[in-house]
Amino acid sequence: MRESLTAITEELRRLKLAGVTTVPVADETLERLRRVVGRRAAATASERAAIAPAAAPATPAAVNPPPAPVRPREAVRTTAAVAAVPEPLRKPPEVRLPSGTKAERWAALKALVEGDENCRAHLRPGKRVVLGVGSLDAALMFVGEAPGAEEEIQGEPFVGPAGQLLTRMIVAMGVAREDVYIGNIMNWRPGLPTAEGQEQVGNRPPTAGEMAYCLPFLRAQVEVVAPRFLVALGATAAQGLLGAGAFKTLGEVRGRWHDFGGIPLMVTYHPSYILREPTPRRKRLIWEDLLQVMERAGLPVSDRQRGFFLER
Ligand code: URA
Repeated sequence: MRESLTAITEELRRLKLAGVTTVPVADETLERLRRVVGRRAAATASERAAIAPAAAPATPAAVNPPPAPVRPREAVRTTAAVAAVPEPLRKPPEVRLPSGTKAERWAALKALVEGDENCRAHLRPGKRVVLGVGSLDAALMFVGEAPGAEEEIQGEPFVGPAGQLLTRMIVAMGVAREDVYIGNIMNWRPGLPTAEGQEQVGNRPPTAGEMAYCLPFLRAQVEVVAPRFLVALGATAAQGLLGAGAFKTLGEVRGRWHDFGGIPLMVTYHPSYILREPTPRRKRLIWEDLLQVMERAGLPVSDRQRGFFLER
């Protein structure tokens, strides 16, 4: 049940970051939530201590407020009434790569990540840990959130519907998918509770602890590839790269240049933002961010490319 509550609160937190302030919730669901939260509120102090992390990272109260009782209607608002359920944070791994060529260092990293016990512990039978993919000499590196259903089967990021759209976006920039590097904040698909033996339906965003655990693996990929530019796709990727307290809504940081360890970082929407509502307006928003990347990277920009998705 704790995982379900964590998944719900983290999803609400993500929606809030994306600028969503209300979500529809069925009365029946509200009633269930009320019952669960009521039970949790009645938990003893020692039970609470047991689920609290030993040393939680300093996170602004607005993003990670302490658990608060959820009241009927306010529960559906992504405001302070939404409490992130704390989770026990594992110590993130220290990644030390051997010296050698890029290919040798990347292969060592891949072996490390695929053999990582904590990553493997999050996999369901037959599913794979996922590391980034692409050119180790890439000038552009895209960073997404976490593997989804297709990705955890194939062991490669962005191969499902969002990935196919990302590939089209990259091609529209005049670049081949093989010439960029594509990674994720997470190396495993964050799990949702399912009935015994059932496949997971849908995805949830990673928790802060999960992101913190995987971030050293992403940093190591950035170190090996040493791209000239980074593109964060969506709020989770932006949070992972800029830090949890860096912004409240994605709108504050998207379409602007930031810095990640000395590398210019552009933040844009996740391709699934378009998949959810494929309007020319949404496509144009992302495209304008990618135009900025093309210009700064010195990629040729034709008049035709400049005008993509202008018909609103
Ligand atoms: N969405 C992501 O953020 N990453 C993937 O690898 C696939 C979908």
